[in-house]
Amino acid sequence: MDLASKVRLIKDFPKPGINFRDITTLLQDAGAFRQAVDELVELCKGLAVDVIACPEARGFVLGAPLAYAMGKGVVLLRKPGKLPGKTVCHSYELEYGSDALEVHEGAIQPGQKVLLVDDVLATGGTVAAAVELVKKSGGEVAGVAFLIELLGLDGREKLSGYPVVTLLQLE
Ligand code: PRP
Repeated sequence: MDLASKVRLIKDFPKPGINFRDITTLLQDAGAFRQAVDELVELCKGLAVDVIACPEARGFVLGAPLAYAMGKGVVLLRKPGKLPGKTVCHSYELEYGSDALEVHEGAIQPGQKVLLVDDVLATGGTVAAAVELVKKSGGEVAGVAFLIELLGLDGREKLSGYPVVTLLQLE
């Protein structure tokens, strides 16, 4: 199945000039969702991974099934104020605004090899914050996996030195 055809483009969302790649149309298609997860698992096979971490919210939708399929636990990287325990925090810039991510202290153990998973690599701000959270926790980034890489925003430049896996590369 051509997975790229299942991703819907919505112009001028969430503000004028932004071309939003809507993955809900892929996720709600059983065959496309399964294929996307299976192909990402296959692409990540060569990576030595102890645990998977994924950012809220769409990262959860891919990170959790990848973790299940790979037999790993999943660590949630959440937006501020959502985690009940003590957290480590890092702020970042988005393609459209700014935000922050938090992880529970101790959720990532020192020396653990962490695979970061998210739906889209755009400017790379979110994943760069995720990398910082792994480092602040004492973990190591084993690799970074995305369903979609948006070309032309240079997000990949923020990930030099780490293995990067992207299933779909879109303009
Ligand atoms: C989107 C997307 C990625 C990030 C990509 O999340 O799910 O996490 O932006 O953009 P970047 O590479 O420029 O950081 P968003 O913050 O919109 O949150 P959501 O998943 O909760 O909708």
